[in-house]
Amino acid sequence: MSSLAWCSYKRITVEPLAKALGARVLGVDLSQIIEQEVLDEIRMAWQKYLVLVFPEQDITDGQQVRFSRQFGELEIYPLGDNRSQHNPEIFRVSNCDAAGQLLPADDPESLWNNLTEYWHTDSSYRTVPAQGAVLHGREVPPHGGDTLFVNLVEAFDGLPEKRQKSLENLVVVHDWQYGTEYADHLMKAMKSEEIESVPPVRHPLIRTDRSTGKRALFVSPAYASGIDGIVVKEARDLIAELCEWAIQPQFIYRHSWSRHDVVMWYNPLTMHAREAFDYGRERRIMHRTTIVGT
Ligand code: SIN
Repeated sequence: MSSLAWCSYKRITVEPLAKALGARVLGVDLSQIIEQEVLDEIRMAWQKYLVLVFPEQDITDGQQVRFSRQFGELEIYPLGDNRSQHNPEIFRVSNCDAAGQLLPADDPESLWNNLTEYWHTDSSYRTVPAQGAVLHGREVPPHGGDTLFVNLVEAFDGLPEKRQKSLENLVVVHDWQYGTEYADHLMKAMKSEEIESVPPVRHPLIRTDRSTGKRALFVSPAYASGIDGIVVKEARDLIAELCEWAIQPQFIYRHSWSRHDVVMWYNPLTMHAREAFDYGRERRIMHRTTIVGT
């Protein structure tokens, strides 16, 4: 662990967790109003380490919303059933219903949330994808359900120069509805206005993050349905190949959840996926706020 990482922050303690990305942040209480100087340090650490873990933060939804808003406006998730009734900015990623009852393994809502098992970058299906997300582990299973994060800057930098150049001008179609093809039986449960609110969009395969100036691979395979000018099968093969490249262990941080961890990720330079767990038997209740991109 580099000693530099410890001394560049005056108000918080930042402990790197893995070589590629991820750091634990201590010395902050997210239930309280946070001073600007502390927020500035959190932002600095967020853009450097890409995934921040705040342990032991037993916060309410309202406190989560207030904390997240300090980093930008918040998105509203397209599916009404997955939004909290009290705080629409809270997206419930859970195998329990809003009242906390464990859902049967074949319940559409439980199955829906299993879409997060596919690698993705949040809201890649929007014209401006999310800047970040804050995920609060309100209840976590004793086994499984880890979340894996990839540093897409390192994945891009690790490609041979010739390969990087060959990808340079490619434009990828990101389609929310394509993501739902993984669970097409769920389409029946979706209202047409929910589908129409997120039509397909296009993003460069190599994107430059406006805030940090860093260049990263932008594949988000759960939603990337094609590449302009390339036949569908070849385009999807290329997306799958780049995803396989990116999810190598040297580019990954694995987060094994403890109850009341709050994890915040920098979305433009990462993608993530949740590992399986016994979702018909073990409770997993996560509340996510999503920060609008710039
Ligand atoms: C997400 O993909 O936003 C949620 C990940 C998780 O539930 O671990």
